[in-house]
Amino acid sequence: MKALEGIKVLDFTHVQSGPTCTQLLAWLGADVIKVERAGVGDATRQQLVDKPGADSLYFTMLNHNKRSLELNTKSDEGKEVLTRLVETCDVLVENFAPGALDRMGFGWENIQKINPRMIMASVKGFGPGRYEDCKVYENVAQCAGGSASTTGWRDDRPMVTGAQIGDSGTGLHLAFGILAALFQREKSGRGQRVLAAMQDGVLNLCRVKLRDQQRLAAGPLDEYSQFGEGIEFGDSVPRAGNDSGGGQPGRILKCKGWETDPNAYTYFITQAAVWKHVCDVIGKPEWKDDPDYATPKARLPRLNEIFEAIEAWTMTKTKFEVMDICNPLDIPVGPILSMKEIAEDPDLRKTGTIVEVDHPQRGKYLTVGCPVKLSDSPVEVSRSPLLGEHTVEILEGVLGYSGADLDRIVGSGAVGKVGAVAAE
Ligand SMILES: CC(C)(COP(=O)(O)OP(=O)(O)OC[C@H]1O[C@@H](n2cnc3c(N)ncnc32)[C@H](O)[C@@H]1OP(=O)(O)O)[C@@H](O)C(=O)NCCC(=O)NCCS
Repeated sequence: MKALEGIKVLDFTHVQSGPTCTQLLAWLGADVIKVERAGVGDATRQQLVDKPGADSLYFTMLNHNKRSLELNTKSDEGKEVLTRLVETCDVLVENFAPGALDRMGFGWENIQKINPRMIMASVKGFGPGRYEDCKVYENVAQCAGGSASTTGWRDDRPMVTGAQIGDSGTGLHLAFGILAALFQREKSGRGQRVLAAMQDGVLNLCRVKLRDQQRLAAGPLDEYSQFGEGIEFGDSVPRAGNDSGGGQPGRILKCKGWETDPNAYTYFITQAAVWKHVCDVIGKPEWKDDPDYATPKARLPRLNEIFEAIEAWTMTKTKFEVMDICNPLDIPVGPILSMKEIAEDPDLRKTGTIVEVDHPQRGKYLTVGCPVKLSDSPVEVSRSPLLGEHTVEILEGVLGYSGADLDRIVGSGAVGKVGAVAAE
């Protein structure tokens, strides 16, 4: 049995943010029915194509464990099928541009009329306010949510991060809202609206920077490198390079091989509790009792000098040797792992975090499995559906169409070209 067994999801999502959410629900055991534009499908099927004629990795890696139904929701028959889906499903997830669902005739009021138990979950770029009508993509959300202004180097322009905190991050936020709404429905018997705005999701992940914004009123942020360098603070949180976000100073330092390997680096945190171990490891035992270095406060104005000394040591070791030496001493370090190293990591393969999946069009590829492990609801990652692969199966098995009624829907063209898909 799976945690969400019996829950049916009308997956009206596309691109990344919404599909991330519904993929998680599918992994937890929900029956996720992805409704795609007839003959077209989710635009990402054809984006960043590496194998012509095959669904892209962009699509396959975000749509595992789902079923695909082609549907033109703007035709009469399409609206009829969509209405039946709303009647039958527990959750509708969508990330259309603001207003698109209303224009389709399936706004919240109508959804409630059709199925008062329906949970309608949406990703939008912004919550209610002056930008609510805007279409939003990942990097726009990173900029609007405070990530870009606080990422990068102080004397350079704002920077976006490679982690998809606007898209995948918001999908994750939406999933937890949906689970809470499902739980509440058990008691109330009613569905509700769940909204995850990308700006809000990014800001939630940038919480510590809003903390620092308020701390600025009390004086300079003394754990930021610029404090030690004597550079004045302005009136908003500056970019802090690779400084750690907590009160324990940390930096990214070169390791053996950095001249040729762009990822021969380690993160190194000079945690106060293990300062004496740090001094021993880097060959500076005299710093343990020297009043200029012995306390965190004394070290703050000397961080550049201290990290130079630590780096002189890390440069004599590989990033993995640094880990092997520091870990037993509880000195927090972390090798900078390349995507190649992560893809080949045997532990991640064993836990199902990196999974190899077989696909009829593209053969074997790697994906990221479910990042959360439930002991009673194990996840088996199965490949993403081909466009319209389950159209008839869903019309018959989920919506109860048969005989002349089924022929009418199929004949109308509202569900694309049935039979055009050869799966395996
Ligand atoms: C991502 C985004 C910018 C893309 O915008 P877009 O390409 O214009 O796509 P839309 O979502 O507006 O949908 C386009 C149209 O397709 C229509 N459509 C979608 N599925 C359909 C279907 N199965 N049958 C018929 N029409 C369909 C919509 O109704 C809409 O039509 P309309 O504009 O005439 O009302 C936009 O969807 C958005 O801002 N989403 C919310 C934020 C978000 O999730 N962003 C991150 C994406 S990773």
